[in-house]
Amino acid sequence: MLVARPIFPEVIARLREHLDVITHDSEQALSATELQARLQGCDGVFVAASEPINAELLAACPQLKAVCSMAVGYNNIDVPACTARGVLVSNAPDVLTETTADFGFALMMATARRIAESERFLRRGEWTHWSFDLMAGADVHAATLGVLGMGRIGQAIARRGALGFGMPVIYHNRSRLPEADEQAVKARWVDKATLLREADHLVIVVPYSPASHHMIGEAELALMKPGATLTNIARGGVVDDAALARALAERRIAAAGLDVFEGEPKVLPALLDLPNVVLTPHIASASIPTRMAMCNLAADNLIAALTGGKPPTALNPEVLART
Ligand code: GLV
Ligand code: GLV
Repeated sequence: MLVARPIFPEVIARLREHLDVITHDSEQALSATELQARLQGCDGVFVAASEPINAELLAACPQLKAVCSMAVGYNNIDVPACTARGVLVSNAPDVLTETTADFGFALMMATARRIAESERFLRRGEWTHWSFDLMAGADVHAATLGVLGMGRIGQAIARRGALGFGMPVIYHNRSRLPEADEQAVKARWVDKATLLREADHLVIVVPYSPASHHMIGEAELALMKPGATLTNIARGGVVDDAALARALAERRIAAAGLDVFEGEPKVLPALLDLPNVVLTPHIASASIPTRMAMCNLAADNLIAALTGGKPPTALNPEVLART
């Protein structure tokens, strides 16, 4: 099997106790063609959020039996195509929920309170005097938190806002949470337009799919309050980055915090030029213990899938029943 990314050596060593392992040792991600070439003869692959696993690759790698990702989002993997070929797919849910929610909350707070902008200002030597409105931003406590996407991470963010910061929480999700869960996170379901109109701080945590492509574009941004902030820790493409850059430049919303981008690791130059946006390099799950847990969970799935066991977080466990 191939580990398509450099990962913790301890996890490689664990995989080697059970499987024949080849590694890709450069931080430069494999291109689709390189991935296909490296996978010849491999029965499994360890991937992260960006390796494209599609029907074309599967057709070219007939020995592949398992695709295990250390990410929770799996929009890079064509799961139905894998299922059709009997290839097991797994992701890494749950182990990153709280860490990712911590980061979403931190990015929202940094955005509201202009922390990154203040730091750049100070480092540039521009801090010459106190002023009544120096870097004055929006309040977080008691402001209305809007959560778009109420999966596990969305619920963990809602809990932080409601229980820790006294925020009224509204959310939108295709399906409503059961009432007991709504009560636990103290969140109220609203339609998408109401969410956009009422949120002081909007945090986006929906998985990417063709249905969520540009879910936040020009028309949606136009509904938001001029003082509102938008934080995206979901996936690039859920937000129309060019429309967001225009709204920020024209101060139609106050600020944005972005951990994910369309076409990342490239970032739209218009965003890089704006003062009122906090930019981070897709690191919401990046605490050391959580990245270790994500790698170990992907390894558990691979070892089980390739040695006749039961992968703990399979997305298409039905393929195992067939063999
Ligand atoms: C990271 O973006 C993940 O999906 O885990
Ligand atoms: C998303 O919210 C997840 O944890 O799957």
